[in-house]
Amino acid sequence: MMSCSLAPQRPGMPARQISASSFAEEFDAARNQLNKLDFEQEQNHDQEHEDESPMASPSLSSSDSLTSEEPSPLGSDNGDDDVTPFTPMVDPDNDNVADDFAFAFDIDGVLVRGGKPIPEAIEAMKVLNGENEFGIKVPYIFLTNGGGKFESERCANLSRQLDMTVSEGQLICGHTPMRELSSRYRDCSVLVVGGEGETCRLVAESYGFHDVITPGDILKANASTAPFRRLTPAEHAASRDLLFSSRRRHRRPEVVRKLSDIVVFAVFVFADSHDWASDLQIILDIAQSRGGRLETRSETFDKGPPIYFSHSDVVWSAAHEHVRLGMGALRKMVETVFEETTSGRKLVTHAFGKPQVGTFEFAERLLRQWRAEKHGLPFGILPCGRSQGPKTVYFVGDTPESDVKGTNAMDEKSGREGTEWYSILVKTGVYQEGTEPRYRPRKLVGNVLDAVHHGIRREMARKRTATEGRLLPLDVDGFKKMGEGRMPEVVE
Ligand code: G3P
Ligand code: MG
Repeated sequence: MMSCSLAPQRPGMPARQISASSFAEEFDAARNQLNKLDFEQEQNHDQEHEDESPMASPSLSSSDSLTSEEPSPLGSDNGDDDVTPFTPMVDPDNDNVADDFAFAFDIDGVLVRGGKPIPEAIEAMKVLNGENEFGIKVPYIFLTNGGGKFESERCANLSRQLDMTVSEGQLICGHTPMRELSSRYRDCSVLVVGGEGETCRLVAESYGFHDVITPGDILKANASTAPFRRLTPAEHAASRDLLFSSRRRHRRPEVVRKLSDIVVFAVFVFADSHDWASDLQIILDIAQSRGGRLETRSETFDKGPPIYFSHSDVVWSAAHEHVRLGMGALRKMVETVFEETTSGRKLVTHAFGKPQVGTFEFAERLLRQWRAEKHGLPFGILPCGRSQGPKTVYFVGDTPESDVKGTNAMDEKSGREGTEWYSILVKTGVYQEGTEPRYRPRKLVGNVLDAVHHGIRREMARKRTATEGRLLPLDVDGFKKMGEGRMPEVVE
């Protein structure tokens, strides 16, 4: 854990030296801690595999590691959905739960739009909860880049929107994996940006960050930080007094420090900004500071603390008919304006969330735990080293750049000897019908209900094949170019 006492004028710790690689170690440590928590056995298994593929680095992408990938042509959809129903083989002692496939859902643009449920979503959940021609229940989790609320609150909203119970054990928000870094920054001052009012501060504190500062706190301490931004009385009251101590009750709070006494050891953008101008200014002030010391300027502009974004979606689908700018756009602005104002210096920032493979690995661990908890299905490592989990996870998303790219990359990494991750793209969100998605899904369907039907029927077709010992025609669209995940199954 990092030491971070706030003695005045102490030279800022050279946080920037924390290069991407040392950051990888840091995150490995955090992730192993998670492993130790959940899956003792699993940890050895994961570590073994990590060394194998270069994709195994932690679930963060740094802006200096992004490569431009060729968009690939899209196939048509609904290849093999007309499967005649038959009694499937299911887990003998849990006779109506599918044991070798599961679903994972993106939220915005797939289940919800602008806070309202997408009509087919309610039906789709009913089908997964057993109301289907095969009489099976299928385990599922939710993996959203969205955030800005406690996971429990997001579950309550989703339960209301989908008219069913969603539990925290099956939901991951964009900032959920940031919890793993709290042990590193426990008593350090960290800046938490985004979301409504004080919520993200409270979520960060619930994760174990003990000294959370928000842009509002800095604006309260120095209103000239963002010349055109005035805190409302409510915001002013809710913001922390960074300069004054109010320890001694009933005595006039006394000035205990200057803003430049405060060193910010890391910046966490938890959720979409509700004030891009002042958030951009404050993040850049810290990025250009001497080691995170507020109100200072580094001469070399390479001494700023690490900056983590909970995801990098440039656009997302909200209530408006056209996509809206998301956190990824703010991230690009921070990097571009940094370069503009430092005569071309590059700023490396880090992003969690989809499409990072680590985020899908995080989700796969949650899914296995959820299957065990909710459905009593086995998990852990088989003697052959393969984890007992679903053979296939159908990931249903609306954004090619995060949902499809991430699922295909996860399939590329774990699909061969582990779990197949099958990407399904819907037309109810970011992806616009008739356009070329930058990342090619295994299946393109109209909406989430079509996606659920497609997945279940594909599984039933496979089972039928397995039981009748012959191969059924494949969804020819399943063909994918080499390098974008698995070769297609062979049609005899
Ligand atoms: O801000 C969240 C948005 O970018 C995407 O959310 O649920 O589509 O991953 P989701
Ligand atoms: Mg989405």
